[in-house]
Amino acid sequence: MTVFRTDRLVLREIHADDFEAVHAYASDPEVVRWVPWGPNTETDTRDFVAVTMASAAAEPRMDWILAVETREAPRLVGTVGLYVRYHDQDQAMLGYAYGRGVWGRGYATEAATAMLEIGFDALGLRRIWAACDPDNAASRRVLEKIGMTLEGRLRQDTVVRGQVRDSLVWGILEEDWNGLRRTL
Ligand SMILES: CC(C)(COP(=O)(O)OP(=O)(O)OC[C@H]1O[C@@H](n2cnc3c(N)ncnc32)[C@H](O)[C@@H]1OP(=O)(O)O)[C@@H](O)C(=O)NCCC(=O)NCCS
Repeated sequence: MTVFRTDRLVLREIHADDFEAVHAYASDPEVVRWVPWGPNTETDTRDFVAVTMASAAAEPRMDWILAVETREAPRLVGTVGLYVRYHDQDQAMLGYAYGRGVWGRGYATEAATAMLEIGFDALGLRRIWAACDPDNAASRRVLEKIGMTLEGRLRQDTVVRGQVRDSLVWGILEEDWNGLRRTL
């Protein structure tokens, strides 16, 4: 059972009781505006919770999708994840989503930084990357704030509710992370 604490947040495993809190944000059209999934039906969210719980028990574990709670009022406000596609490649994709009610408080930045720490220090990854829509200004800013470098633009990389979209690819290497920590 993974539990990771930051100044204001607790990152923990997702369980079946999280359905309602996940569904509250995953079914919100504004939350999913720049991502290819959603807005979720109840079935989509139940599948997400089930798949996430199964992935936490997989051996070897490939996906580290965690609930983000605030310390002051323990309740799921969003999720953050590292997705290891190929186990021998030592790299993972970072992803996250939060309910609108908590945007702008720095939670996404704080939790994503924690995931870098988990990824590099606990999982021994070499590279963590993320992709976001060029018009997803808040996510771009989060990726910049956690020390990722904009590596390029994938043209027509994804389809968001029928619209073909480019993706911006961001990345951070273990050596970048170690350098960043020396300056903290
Ligand atoms: C992207 C998201 C995770 C950001 O969460 P958050 O908790 O608000 O993020 P933070 O508060 O840590 O940081 C957001 C930053 O973006 C900035 N920002 C927000 N909206 C912005 C906009 N429209 N234009 C420019 N900057 C913007 C904020 O000012 C802040 O930067 P600052 O600290 O320099 O002021 C949240 O908006 C979300 O869940 N969106 C829906 C799901 C999603 O898009 N996930 C990412 C897929 S790639």
